[in-house]
Amino acid sequence: MRIKTFDVERWMDLYENDAVNNIAETCVNSMSVRELLELAGDTGSRIQQILDMRLTYGAIPGSLSLREGITGLYETMGPENVLVMNGGSASNFLTLYALVEPGDHVISVNPTYQQLYSIPESFGARVDLLELKPEEGFLPDPGKIAGMITPETKMICLNNPNNPTGALMGKDLLEEIVEVARSVDAWILCDEVYRMLVHEQDLHIPAMADLYEKGISVGSMSKAFSLAGLRLGWIAGSEDLIHECILKRDYTNISCGMIDDYLAALAMEKKDAILERNLGIIRSNIAILDEWVKGEPRIDYVKPRAGTTAFIHYDYHVPSREFCTRLIELNGTFVVPGDCFGRENWIRVGYAFDPAVLEAGLKGISILLRELEKEGL
Ligand SMILES: Cc1ncc(COP(=O)(O)O)c(C=O)c1O
Repeated sequence: MRIKTFDVERWMDLYENDAVNNIAETCVNSMSVRELLELAGDTGSRIQQILDMRLTYGAIPGSLSLREGITGLYETMGPENVLVMNGGSASNFLTLYALVEPGDHVISVNPTYQQLYSIPESFGARVDLLELKPEEGFLPDPGKIAGMITPETKMICLNNPNNPTGALMGKDLLEEIVEVARSVDAWILCDEVYRMLVHEQDLHIPAMADLYEKGISVGSMSKAFSLAGLRLGWIAGSEDLIHECILKRDYTNISCGMIDDYLAALAMEKKDAILERNLGIIRSNIAILDEWVKGEPRIDYVKPRAGTTAFIHYDYHVPSREFCTRLIELNGTFVVPGDCFGRENWIRVGYAFDPAVLEAGLKGISILLRELEKEGL
């Protein structure tokens, strides 16, 4: 089986651990085990429970307490509608592996997380990309999707909130897309690993699994819950979907780690506190980023409404990979080149961590911009 190189993951792997100012990261400031246990309270007895845990395969689809915790993020999902996997990435993979066959037609938004179009393509599907445009706020146009679908369209892949742009689809737009998908009985896979990370107060965005009988929501402990090291995510959808995924999952991972499951269930119990922490981080850091963008005349963006990343356009004559390589070599500032998302003259910046690192990284970019100006680029 041939599959295209996952550009953003290869790029991250090159510099992620050595960067001085890593502002390429997409998780909200990751938590330590200690922080999580302290938040959950009763630390001593929790540690004892972990020490006494017999490391069997555990509950195959994920423990009931974890799946019940996850259902709290949805309106209509019960534990039977949730399947736990090793991260959002494995959840996306399994969903596509379970549903997409050679000759199927798949539509995916672009830019987005590359899994959503490169995996179905590798399974022999014909994939059409719906190019999201800055002048349309990087939002998909349901009319355009209607013009792309065919009776063979098996699936529409969405990402809400979007990585890299931070664009957010609201309920009305999601419902319009559901109507288009329903007209040809297509699945909608919506990667929602950044769900709930919205800038506006009290804005609730429904999950695709709650909106549509063939809607699939993929979630994760990594981003909104700051626990990427657990490597846990999930698929939420109809029981038929979960059954199809279970049949394939027997061949891929059997079950997830018991300690990971235990800690994830604790995090779900404390989800309100974790989200409050994380909303505080993204809402104050977006102001730092926004001020920097306003102060750089040859930089512009569609201001993110959600998520942890911004897709930033620069008006300098230098390819994005060269821009980013020069930047890391100049002052150790690490961002992601737009070419990982098929776009030149763009970079992706993450803003959901220590504000001091964000400020240092943005200063680092400005230093490069002054050099480019001196060179007449
Ligand atoms: C949109 C999107 N989906 C999935 C993932 C993978 O997340 P996980 O750590 O849960 O595998 C990422 C990670 O960057 C992402 O941005």
